[in-house]
Amino acid sequence: MTELTKLDLLEWLRESRPARLQSLYERANAVRKEHVGDAVHLRGLIEVSSHCVRQCMYCGLRHANRDLPRYRMTREEILNCALQAERLGYGTVVMQGGEDDLLTAKWVEEIVWWIKRETRLAVTLSLGERSRDEFELWRLAGADRYLLRFETSDENLFRVIHPHRYSGTPGRLSLLRQLKSLGYEAGGGVMVGIPGQSFESLAQDILTFRALNLDMIGIGPYIAHAATPLGSGALRPAISPSEQAPASEEMVYKMIALTRIVCPDANIPSTTALATINKVDGRKLGLKVGANVVMPNLTPSKYRRLYEIYPAKACIDESATDCNQCLRGQIHSLGRFAGHGPGGRGMLETPVGIMPDAGANLVQLQA
Ligand code: 5AD
Ligand code: FES
Repeated sequence: MTELTKLDLLEWLRESRPARLQSLYERANAVRKEHVGDAVHLRGLIEVSSHCVRQCMYCGLRHANRDLPRYRMTREEILNCALQAERLGYGTVVMQGGEDDLLTAKWVEEIVWWIKRETRLAVTLSLGERSRDEFELWRLAGADRYLLRFETSDENLFRVIHPHRYSGTPGRLSLLRQLKSLGYEAGGGVMVGIPGQSFESLAQDILTFRALNLDMIGIGPYIAHAATPLGSGALRPAISPSEQAPASEEMVYKMIALTRIVCPDANIPSTTALATINKVDGRKLGLKVGANVVMPNLTPSKYRRLYEIYPAKACIDESATDCNQCLRGQIHSLGRFAGHGPGGRGMLETPVGIMPDAGANLVQLQA
């Protein structure tokens, strides 16, 4: 298979002919099947805190959004979610939150320890830009993976939409390299269609996924949130209309498909943001064009609404058991099966279990 150059990627990103796009999606689906198989891994998402000290110009959790009541889950609530994840047969829990200074290094460490001791779950953290010492402490406590999307590889746009907390902190690409060097599986990703985001920068994003050798890559549409400067239109990064990438469903499918072709063995979720812009079958279509992961929400219902990164999030009223059943139904309707194990990179699964030659990886991950 010929490698895709930046020019090829750009051409695909601008492609709109249905037959051509169909051929791209079929190719991505074949690459997905060959490299990561038919398993769809379930990652239980626990939104541990909606407090955030940052001011990201697109995110509803930004500190300046005073209209949003904030919450922080207790340790017991988090541990109960982890136990529920196990009961539902998930292989992984993802602890995600805003940059909340009260989620101290020690607090997170103890929760990771407990989950690793009491369950067989892989633990993924997604707690924003934290220090190397914290990453190291949590890794030693048993955390397996860390998610930190870099949102866009366009440095100018990144700066405009992420006002700095401290000067001199490492950029997200450096943090992702740091995470990998500590032995984490590292996940990056981008939003698609951010105001000011060009087609060209999206092509560069895909090349950046490959250059970083990311283990996980999350891609979702940008969704305007009226309580943010980007969403209200108060902030309008300059760009010519012909360069602006749309925040459309099709654009997200193209990005997922091209990412699958360029990074064949990465774990790629069909994201909640995608399911939000097409509530009927966004999640399923993502799985058909290259994705192999879904992230059912485990956050207790009293908090769900308050984790409002963007409006009208999918599954806001459904319980954890509703989503579990719904997703398993969707996975089976595609002729695929739900993964049983932790679903790390390079762990191929068959419908009945983990393939024997994936054993080496499994031992490594759990060591
Ligand atoms: N639209 C879509 N995705 C968003 N995120 C944050 N705000 C928005 C928005 N308005 C995504 C970012 C972040 C992830 C947790 O949620 O990519 O990394
Ligand atoms: Fe939540 Fe379908 S995944 S209801």
